[in-house]
Amino acid sequence: MIEMESKVKVVNNIEIPALGLGTFKLLGDLCVEAIKDALDIGYRHIDTAQFYGNEEEVGTGIKKSTVSRNDIWLTTKVWHDSLSAADLTKTFEDSLKKLKTDYVDLLLIHWPSTTGVPLEESLEAMTKLKEAGKAANIGVSNFPPAMFEQAMELANIVCNQVEYHPFLSQDTLLKMAVESNMFFTAYSPIGQGEVFKNDLLVNIAEKYNKNAAQVALRWLLQQGNVLAIPRSSKHENRKSNFDVFDFELNEEEMAQIFKISSVTQKRMVNPDFAPAW
Ligand SMILES: NC(=O)c1ccc[n+]([C@@H]2O[C@H](COP(=O)([O-])OP(=O)(O)OC[C@H]3O[C@@H](n4cnc5c(N)ncnc54)[C@H](OP(=O)(O)O)[C@@H]3O)[C@@H](O)[C@H]2O)c1
Repeated sequence: MIEMESKVKVVNNIEIPALGLGTFKLLGDLCVEAIKDALDIGYRHIDTAQFYGNEEEVGTGIKKSTVSRNDIWLTTKVWHDSLSAADLTKTFEDSLKKLKTDYVDLLLIHWPSTTGVPLEESLEAMTKLKEAGKAANIGVSNFPPAMFEQAMELANIVCNQVEYHPFLSQDTLLKMAVESNMFFTAYSPIGQGEVFKNDLLVNIAEKYNKNAAQVALRWLLQQGNVLAIPRSSKHENRKSNFDVFDFELNEEEMAQIFKISSVTQKRMVNPDFAPAW
């Protein structure tokens, strides 16, 4: 079996729970309950963002849980209009208050700046927050190869979080992450539910008595450095998405799933402020 069977991946001496809960669109009491429930199920990694408007609820869910804050990997992201040093620092302090914690495990730039703030300025501000112990690690999200390279040169970042699932190949970025000892976090890992419509994934799932989402998640987690953060508003789906540590895809199945994207190459998240991929 591969090294991630402990449910934790280790890259560059940093340990991150391989499977986290995504929280985009989880709001209000539903979000509080989702966090508490996920922690009961065994999730130890929560992904939120200023933009999701739910940091308050994520913080409440963590407080309500019996799992200690120190046992949870908590990621938040600063929005692309708040990347000047002053805005980044201020909005991040607000995030900490909402999250009811004095640090996050990972602070990400959610999307590259759309207002011309130099990357150096944002990363310097984040490095200061890291030095102050308020962000244990820093990283980027939605950074295409040249920007990712630039970020790696400018600061001690630990990851790039990007859309990644069987319908979208991320060969170049993933290779860069692995070669540079970075984590690679797959968002929309079950293609926002599209995996259930794919015959290959459904057929492989039947063989293991699993479902297509579990196969997609397993395919991601069997790749070195890759983490996955599926989102669900429902207990049953959160539970089944976490139930991926007791089976293993063989090499042929891994290769077959890799081939899906050569036909589809489908990006689900592509807002008008996205960088040129
Ligand atoms: N950095 C970025 O720019 C960025 C962008 C997008 C997402 N993200 C992060 O990544 C997380 C995940 O991505 P995502 O929310 O776009 O999509 P996703 O996790 O691929 O898919 C979520 C959708 O799949 C459904 N689902 C989940 N598990 C299921 C199951 N076992 N059976 C059937 N349906 C299931 C959910 O519905 P139900 O609620 O009904 O289960 C929901 O509609 C986000 O929540 C967010 O934290 C980051």
